[in-house]
Amino acid sequence: MLVLGIETSCDETGVALYDSESGLRAHALFSQIDMHADYGGVVPELASRDHVRKLLPLCEQVLADAGQQRHDIDAIAYTAGPGLVGALMVGGSVAHALGFALGVPVLGVHHMEGHLLAPMLETNPPAFPFIALLVSGGHTQLVRVDGVGEYTLMGESVDDAAGEAFDKAAKMLGLDYPGGPRVAALAQQGRVGVYRFPRPMTDRPGLDFSFSGLKTYTLNTVAAAEAAGTLDEQTRADIARAFETAVVETLAIKCRRALEQSGCQRLVIAGGVSANHRLREGLNEMARKLNSQVYYARPEFCTDNGAMIAYAGCQRLLAGQRDGDRIVAVPRWPMDTLPPLHEPRTNGLAD
Ligand code: KG4
Ligand code: ZN
Repeated sequence: MLVLGIETSCDETGVALYDSESGLRAHALFSQIDMHADYGGVVPELASRDHVRKLLPLCEQVLADAGQQRHDIDAIAYTAGPGLVGALMVGGSVAHALGFALGVPVLGVHHMEGHLLAPMLETNPPAFPFIALLVSGGHTQLVRVDGVGEYTLMGESVDDAAGEAFDKAAKMLGLDYPGGPRVAALAQQGRVGVYRFPRPMTDRPGLDFSFSGLKTYTLNTVAAAEAAGTLDEQTRADIARAFETAVVETLAIKCRRALEQSGCQRLVIAGGVSANHRLREGLNEMARKLNSQVYYARPEFCTDNGAMIAYAGCQRLLAGQRDGDRIVAVPRWPMDTLPPLHEPRTNGLAD
């Protein structure tokens, strides 16, 4: 089955062709980062308009790259949520229009399920069951995964997501949007142990996270250095390093608990923050001690992309799931409401 995958939930237009037999055939991405950078964050209306401009050319591009024609497409998967509703509507409209024109099934995919399954696109994919740490701009969750659509939420952030904390720390350090990769780059120059930031919610049992206190701590540290006249490049790098270390260690402590509690020996990390090298290193080190294995996608498939949507959609479409004619665009959508593969027809939302 050749599936066209479309991702337009936020500030990246991603398109891919995934074949259930031969794997990923082609993928293309247009990032709107430069457009939103002037505003310090994503401007939803500008995002929607740019998806309108870029989506069809990217569809043509992946077809050409894969040496396929439109009529070769067997099914279409698009991100139906969670995300910016206007941006989602663009992907949903194009998916349904193409599906209608080509007479092929269409399925709305959950964005975080896409992230969660992205490591399946790599060689040596994880086997079920596994524990997944989902760390993106909007989500920080620990999920037990027994199969596609068989998700048990074990813990989540009670306030900011890990990626959001990176983005806010970046702003405080005078770095541009999107902050995560920039904080990570600045932290490379930082010295270990100059500052020590708290590891929130690690001193009590449970698997929930909180990152808003870390944000305040960063703000206070930056303000204190500024007041003392010591906020030079090295100090900013030291603060970035301490912040990154605190996030990584906090996530590693909770992942270790989740592995121990569940008895699982496989940990998947997914979402934009899983591109972070120190997070990968920290989790690898923790897992080695537990005789466990960590799995993640290549960096370009950690952040938003069309390949993960084509892959996740393909698993469900192969099982016979498909939507009706209604375009689905939902800003909020708890992932544990998704049906397992053996429940036929819909993604739990449409019709
Ligand atoms: O998954 P994603 O592309 O979009 C959402 O679904 O939210 O995640 C974006 C988030 C942003 O907050 C970004 O700053 C963060 O992932 N991010 C990183 C890194 N690359 C992206 N955070 C830390 N280190 C990175 N290398
Ligand atoms: Zn995402």
